Amino acid sequence: VIDNLDELTNQVVKKICLIVKKKPDAVLCFACGETPRPIMNKLIILHKNKEIDFSRVRIVGLDEWLGVDRETVGSCAQMLYDDFFTPMNFREDQISIFNGKSNNLQKEITDATRIVDELGIDFVLLGIGMNGHIGLNEPGTEIGSGVRVVQLSTTTKQVMGKYFEGHFDIQSGITLGFSQLLNSRNIVLMATGNRKSEIVKKIVHSEPNIDIPATFFKKSNYESEFYIDKDAGNDIYLE
Ligand code: PGA
Repeated sequence: VIDNLDELTNQVVKKICLIVKKKPDAVLCFACGETPRPIMNKLIILHKNKEIDFSRVRIVGLDEWLGVDRETVGSCAQMLYDDFFTPMNFREDQISIFNGKSNNLQKEITDATRIVDELGIDFVLLGIGMNGHIGLNEPGTEIGSGVRVVQLSTTTKQVMGKYFEGHFDIQSGITLGFSQLLNSRNIVLMATGNRKSEIVKKIVHSEPNIDIPATFFKKSNYESEFYIDKDAGNDIYLE
């Protein structure tokens, strides 16, 4: 638990920069949503100041809502491009993310599976859903799950309104599974803000179980770290 969000951001950013310094063509995976924004913003500042060189990294997508694409405000692709990829000057050949409007979802699944199988993920930054979901791996997800189309949980359907301002009625999504995520070489889970304090407490105090997918990282094959700010960490020590 790190009280100060700036300090938390600096630690995660430092970690990412070290990975890319050691391996300039590292494969990185970033969740969309509110949680990773401070990390992305800080990386953009470093990039603009020419303090980092991310010109050879590869980006793989974590997830996307089905029925929307980069043109749709609120989609993962739109947020990632506008808030991160474009300001970082990433080229198209560096980016492989899901197209939620594809009419060949099997190809989306096969392509993402192949890319992660071939290259592996060097670093993944993950937020946590209010129900403990990771990407769109909802409660009930098996630990061996692969890239696939999923039905959204009731909680996720309620929460997602904040990205789309209620304009869309989305029932399903596409996501990397835990077989991809648990094999990532560096895993950072991040939770910030009071609204996450209840689920953070449950994650910290639970054995790995399918009802709270985030707990699977207690079994990851490589280093996995959980960064929590003061507000999200509020309840951890309460009975
Ligand atoms: P958030 O989303 O970062 O917008 O809270 C997290 C998630 O649902 O994975």
